[in-house]
Amino acid sequence: MSKIEINNVYKIFGSNPQSVMPMVKNGANKEEVLEQTGHTVGLDNVSLKIEEGETFVCMGLSGSGKSTLIRHLNRLIDPTDGEIIVEGNNVMSFNKEQLIDFRRHKMSMVFQRFGLFPHKTVIQNVGYGLEMQGKPLEEINKTAMEKIEAVGLNGFENQFPNQLSGGMQQRVGLARALATDSDIMLMDEAFSALDPLIRSDMQKQLLDLQSELKKTIVFITHDLDESLRLGDHIGILNAGKLVQVGTPVDIIMNPADDYVKAFVKDVNRAKVIKAKIIMKSVNEANDIDKSNLIKVNEDQFIEEFLPQIVCSNSNCEVVDKSCNNWHRCNRNRVDHPLFSS
Ligand SMILES: Nc1ncnc2c1ncn2[C@@H]1O[C@H](COP(=O)(O)OP(=O)(O)O)[C@@H](O)[C@H]1O
Ligand SMILES: [Mg+2]
Repeated sequence: MSKIEINNVYKIFGSNPQSVMPMVKNGANKEEVLEQTGHTVGLDNVSLKIEEGETFVCMGLSGSGKSTLIRHLNRLIDPTDGEIIVEGNNVMSFNKEQLIDFRRHKMSMVFQRFGLFPHKTVIQNVGYGLEMQGKPLEEINKTAMEKIEAVGLNGFENQFPNQLSGGMQQRVGLARALATDSDIMLMDEAFSALDPLIRSDMQKQLLDLQSELKKTIVFITHDLDESLRLGDHIGILNAGKLVQVGTPVDIIMNPADDYVKAFVKDVNRAKVIKAKIIMKSVNEANDIDKSNLIKVNEDQFIEEFLPQIVCSNSNCEVVDKSCNNWHRCNRNRVDHPLFSS
């Protein structure tokens, strides 16, 4: 069973959404529907599955339906048609109490504009979700401090949000989302308001945290580099339609249409493809020269180790975080078709 399943979801905004459903189901596009009925198509027959422990990135231009999609997951928005299944439960079947419980315990959300309470300190902001869960103060503060440390904000716990930079405020947002220990984290353009260097730091931090925590993350962005860096799978929305779902490599190598092609045309592939994508299993790589092996982590991007292996004419051994599961990556694999367009 997938952690999240979205089945044939439509969302129409306007005065009488049901009345335009036949037209949308017959294939009218967003522009036609708007022109002829004044209704806006938010989502048009979107189906996808998100697996436990993965980071699923939803990407698309502004207005393509990303926020609409993510808001269906915790029922901030109800679909016009279709179903949303989380851990086997149809979220539309929840009564009021079940829905409150679901939002408090199952999902946490990180927003683009941080969404912090200005009158609460860092530790109070981080502990907010636990307070809502009715946890005792001592436990709230203990957990909040652990999460504050996890995002590198020790020493700032008694500051107020306006005393912190944007990047630090978003770390508070992240710590708050982590504090409730929900399995699913929804992040809507969470890093889009940050300066590029800080944004890159936050991406790294999220990758580091995720390698330990293995939460199910639904991350929304309009930025391809960010999608490729963070996503195990990426879904691409255009005018409410899901036009492609795939791994970063699928998206780069086989863009489904001109819209996706336009996104990927300038991408530096060595920057976004990790060692684990091009490695061969030990058995398959028995024949490679082992006299001059360089050890690389499975999550290192090719750009990070390519100069080293080219200059020293070596091959790589690819290892996971705990140096288990050895695989080899032949130098020639770096001349894989991935790298010729
Ligand atoms: N509450 C709403 N009322 C009317 N139209 C909406 C509403 N929310 C979103 N839309 C429309 O739905 C489409 C998708 O919006 P949104 O999901 O916010 O896009 P994104 O997050 O990709 O920028 C847009 O055309 C937007 O104008
Ligand atoms: Mg949005």
